[in-house]
Amino acid sequence: MDIKELDTNAAAMVAQGKGILAADESTGTIKKRFDNIGLESSFESRRAYRELLFTAPDAGKFISGVILYDETLRQQAADGKPFPQLLTERGILPGIKVDAGAKPLAGFPGELVTEGLDGLRERLAEYRGLGARFAKWRAVIDIGAGIPTRACFAANAEALARYAALCQEATIVPIVEPEVLMDGDHTIERCEEVTDAALETVFDALFLYRVRLESMVLKPNMVIAGKKCAKQAGPQQVAEATIRCLRRRVPGAVPGIAFLSGGQSETDATLHLSLMNRLGDLPWELSFSYGRALQQSTLDAWKGKPGNVAAAQKAFLRRARFNGLARDGSYEAAMEQAAA
Ligand code: 13P
Repeated sequence: MDIKELDTNAAAMVAQGKGILAADESTGTIKKRFDNIGLESSFESRRAYRELLFTAPDAGKFISGVILYDETLRQQAADGKPFPQLLTERGILPGIKVDAGAKPLAGFPGELVTEGLDGLRERLAEYRGLGARFAKWRAVIDIGAGIPTRACFAANAEALARYAALCQEATIVPIVEPEVLMDGDHTIERCEEVTDAALETVFDALFLYRVRLESMVLKPNMVIAGKKCAKQAGPQQVAEATIRCLRRRVPGAVPGIAFLSGGQSETDATLHLSLMNRLGDLPWELSFSYGRALQQSTLDAWKGKPGNVAAAQKAFLRRARFNGLARDGSYEAAMEQAAA
């Protein structure tokens, strides 16, 4: 474990004005995204799409790191350059999703536990050799009648902590991601209660397993009403509830928090981040690690057509820039009206 390198990379991941692109969709998930634009998912179409994102002009101004999927970490740009090398040369840290997905938690209908610890030490060594400098593990917590249970919190928190400890041993910065889903009809108050309990359990486990808080990044959900809730909270309420919850549960030793977008629209995800940063006086950097909220308009502009690559890259840069502005609260919703 090289603590100095870990801390340097953790700080770089949450550097001011920048954030992380989550481009680690599994083969199944990227197929769903491509289905929406009428494109067949193949080894080559997935490669071409990732190349479009990674070579977008000026991306390094707003993107500090990219989370890759196993297949992508091993792929190359059209000129033969491996993606991790291409990103590194552009000043962007390559990262890797290492969990093996969320599986049903035995005995707890409707709840999931993320798997992937077996053989993880060996996989991390290989990933580091391939250029990965940080990793991601996502735990999924659903809200519904009678769930989540204490068992769901505990099983997922233990897995997250054991993963994070293995990452740090391998000099790979762990992104610790407990995602409370925004599916369902729950209120923002219920989301706050569940997010609070999830974070409490996660930090208990991180402490128990001796994870170094200075050498990690937390990737939480925002505190937000369920998509099907009749009473949607306004953006300022989301910002205030999220910061209240994080202040209570996330030690100041953690260098940065990088939110997932979780199904929010591109503009909501950016506005919420900007409003939170505007609240000011925070003990950690407050950043983004968006998948859908950085890629939706890019996919729509691209549609799998080589002739659309430049327009799609422009759409990507626009979202990256707006989120970069949200890092210090200087993004305003009115900017969306301005020309690209
Ligand atoms: P979304 O921003 O689309 O939620 O994806 C982020 C992510 O990496 C989820 O694990």
